[in-house]
Order: sequence, then structure tokens, then C-alpha cells
Amino acid sequence: MKSSRWNRLQAHLEEQLDREELDTWFGPLRVQSDEEHRLVLEAPNEHFVHTLEQSYRPAIDRAQELLDEEGLEILFVATEEGDEHGETKAELPPINVAYIDLPEPPAMTTTPEQVAAGEKLYHRYCSVCHSPGATAANGNVPDLRYSTAAVHASWDAIVRGGAYTGKGMASFAHVLEAPDAEAIRAYIVEQTRGTIAFCQSEYRKQYPELLDTACTRPLVTGAEE
Ligand code: HEC
Repeated sequence: MKSSRWNRLQAHLEEQLDREELDTWFGPLRVQSDEEHRLVLEAPNEHFVHTLEQSYRPAIDRAQELLDEEGLEILFVATEEGDEHGETKAELPPINVAYIDLPEPPAMTTTPEQVAAGEKLYHRYCSVCHSPGATAANGNVPDLRYSTAAVHASWDAIVRGGAYTGKGMASFAHVLEAPDAEAIRAYIVEQTRGTIAFCQSEYRKQYPELLDTACTRPLVTGAEE
């Protein structure tokens, strides 16, 4: 009985995530306790818990809805070295995760008016999926601050041309003109510059445990690497 709820939850996660993500982020979890209204899962460390919360909470919420258990709370805790579960840590499989720094955005001349207009449009049309303020990834919806030069170069084709329609990113041509899409890009570029400046400031040195996760992104690499 104990773990059957976790097994059912994993089955619903399988419907949403690919095998590599499941193995990387959910394979290492252990059931710490399973009570009537609370399932506590233990992850290898705080960074791991942070990534689960930041990137996988929407998928977990959806899986939980499918479980159809009213009032169930799913919590993640980190196994800390030296606590009573310390030994489990050593048995966990190695995780292939590299952390990449926020990349410098491509050169772009922006104006404050353009950025303000872009911010408004972003929050009207994009933030529901790409997160408010463009500060986080949301399940499989990317954090736009990490957009590569190639994505910036095909911005209009993606945002208005519908290049990614098959991947869950609709065309916004019906509501955005070309300068609107460019204004949103200007806003993203400024958000990226702002975050980079913050990450290079003294705060990063003073609060590494808070800012390391804001300034880098986990990148799951293939098993053979
Ligand atoms: C309904 C949810 C949704 C909304 C709303 C949405 N997007 Fe997306 N967007 C996605 C998803 C999902 C992807 C990832 C597609 C993939 O798998 O590559 C994506 C990808 C992108 C990418 C490519 C990023 C990359 O690194 O590959 C850009 C650029 C982008 N969106 C811009 C926007 C902009 C600008 C808006 C607002 C006008 C917007 N999106 C609104 C879901 C959404």
C-alpha cells in the first residue's frame, strides 16, 4: 500500500515527461512518508529539490489531479548529509546534470518605450506559459532568457510565423504585428541583461545559495556522457 500511490503518480508523470527526464529527476526520489493527506518524497540535495519545484511542479500538479485525491499534498525534502537517511545518499545513481550560466543575449539596441511596450505584451500573451517576468522555465516551456542566438534570429518566425506550432508554441500573428514581437524580444533581452548584471554583482558572492540557481540552469546530459 505504502508506495502504490507514488507508483500511480509516476505513471501519470510518464504520460507527460520523457524517459530521460523521469529517470533523472524522479528515479532518485524515495518515499519518506505516505500519510493520508501528505506524500513526502526525499531528493538527494537542496539543488535537486529546487529544480523539481521550479521545473516540474506543473507536471506534478497535473499528475496529482489525475490521481484524484482531494487535499493531497506532495512535498519534497532534501536528504542531508549526516541525518538518519544519510546512507541512502551513497546508493543513489550518479546524475548527469551540468549547470550552464545565463548566456549573453545578442547585441540589440532597445529604447525604454519599446521595452515597456514589450513588457506589457509579454504579460498579456506569453507569461501564462513562459512565467511572469520571464524569470523561470515552466515545465517544458523554456525560460526565454536562455534563448540561443539562433532562437533570437528566428524570433519572428517562431512568435508570428508559427514555426513551433507542433511543439505547443502557437503563432501569435493574429494579435501581434512584427514591431510588437520585436518589442517583446527587447524586453527579454533587457531582462537577460538585468539578470546577468545581478549575477555578476556582489550579491552573488554574498548569497551564492540563493543566486546560483537563479543564474544557472540545470542541463540534463545524455547517459553516455
Ligand atoms: C500556451 C503556452 C505558450 C504561450 C502562451 C507562449 N509560448 Fe512560447 N513556447 C511554448 C512552448 C511549449 C515552447 C517550447 C517548444 C519546444 O518544445 O521547443 C515555446 C517556445 C518558445 C520560443 C523558443 C524558445 C527556445 O529556446 O527554443 C520562443 C522564442 C517563444 N516561445 C516565445 C514566445 C512569446 C514571445 C510568447 C508570447 C507572444 C509565447 N512564446 C507564448 C509555449 C507557449
